[in-house]
Amino acid sequence: MANVLILNGGPRKNGNTAELIRAFSEAAQADSHVVQEFHLQGMTIHGCLSCHQCGKAGKDCVQTDDMEKIYPAFRESQVIVFASPIYFASITGTLKTAIDRLFALWQTLPQAELTNKKSALLLTANQPTWCQTPVTWYHELFTQAMGWEDLGVVYGHGSLYGAGKADDPASVAAAAAIGHSI
Ligand SMILES: Cc1cc2nc3c(=O)[nH]c(=O)nc-3n(C[C@H](O)[C@H](O)[C@H](O)COP(=O)(O)O)c2cc1C
Repeated sequence: MANVLILNGGPRKNGNTAELIRAFSEAAQADSHVVQEFHLQGMTIHGCLSCHQCGKAGKDCVQTDDMEKIYPAFRESQVIVFASPIYFASITGTLKTAIDRLFALWQTLPQAELTNKKSALLLTANQPTWCQTPVTWYHELFTQAMGWEDLGVVYGHGSLYGAGKADDPASVAAAAAIGHSI
């Protein structure tokens, strides 16, 4: 049994990104893993101050905001999932801001507690074949810099219009397959 932390950077609670998260989560939970999702859009998360006070004064970060809910969940999780729609060829600013704040744990956690995690990236875009950058970003930055095992990237097609759910059954199935692969 693993603890799974999902950081959802998409604003639409019933959108395409949410559909990949649903497929992933149902599969993981069916295999008895415990999934905790943070919908970042509704949370107060400020940008990193680059103040170099990480872990000092008894706090992970000097700032007092909703990252204080994410830091303990990150510590206790064996699997970290990033989920986002593509906005102008990248992840949303909402997710990026939260990721920047993980710097505090990257700076302070013992190496063994940082690198013992697995990770996946769930993305949807209107034109996934056109915007490949986020996939490259994830592989280069996270699986290498963090030392994590890569469970995979799903880069699905999803329109902003219509039903508002990923109209890409192969990607939904791929998200479920990652959930089962933990
Ligand atoms: C501000 C904004 C920027 C976007 N930029 C891109 C883009 O650069 N490339 C792309 O393929 N789709 C882009 N899209 C479309 C979304 O990524 C796509 O429809 C996604 O599936 C929406 O996810 P959601 O339903 O979870 O909100 C953009 C949408 C918005 C609102």
